[in-house]
Amino acid sequence: MTANILRLSPAAERNKGPILEVLRRVLPAHGRVLEIAAGTGQHAAWFAAAMPGWRWQPTDFQADALPAIRAWVAETGADNVLPPLQLDVLAPTWPVDSALDAIYCANMLHIAPWATCGALMQGAARHLAPRGLLITYGPYLEDGVPTSPGNLAFDDSLRRENAAWGIRRREDVEQEARRAGFVLHERHAMPANNLLLVWAREP
Ligand SMILES: C[S@@+](CC[C@H](N)C(=O)[O-])C[C@H]1O[C@@H](n2cnc3c(N)ncnc32)[C@H](O)[C@@H]1O
Repeated sequence: MTANILRLSPAAERNKGPILEVLRRVLPAHGRVLEIAAGTGQHAAWFAAAMPGWRWQPTDFQADALPAIRAWVAETGADNVLPPLQLDVLAPTWPVDSALDAIYCANMLHIAPWATCGALMQGAARHLAPRGLLITYGPYLEDGVPTSPGNLAFDDSLRRENAAWGIRRREDVEQEARRAGFVLHERHAMPANNLLLVWAREP
């Protein structure tokens, strides 16, 4: 009886396959993953079910997202997902373990104030194991790379909806990462003009 609280993001349905393919290559077979801004919970449920060696901790800023995340997990039957938690990246402390193997955050940076970027990086520095990875996914602007008309229109619509939102420059994100001790380790071009970026601690 979960159908009434399942939330469906068509974009998440489209991108979960390509993202999973990269995650399988980038992440170890076993580990503890914290998901920030899990939204509908489709990614958490799908990725955890596909990778039983991971222990997946979904979180979101909005308390009312949590029942839907639980519903997606129940739908897939994944038994390696911890109960979803409310977590605001801007909070000075996060209610989660440290020494994590990975932190995964998709499609938050452009739909949240810019301060969330620095907070995400600083939180990753506090909670990742020394060899842990931070993975961010979404649209980015990049110096010297022509922006697709689709991303330009999306950026415009985001900024009209909320002046604090907007597609972020990858170089600005890198600067926040450096402040927290991370470097861009891998850049994967993804369908629909998105990027999957892998951040590792500075050697
Ligand atoms: C577009 S949804 C992305 C959901 C999912 N990751 C995906 O890719 O389908 C953006 C999410 O960011 C979350 N969010 C916004 N501000 C946040 C914050 N300060 N801390 C944590 N999550 C936040 C929202 O609650 C929302 O679920």
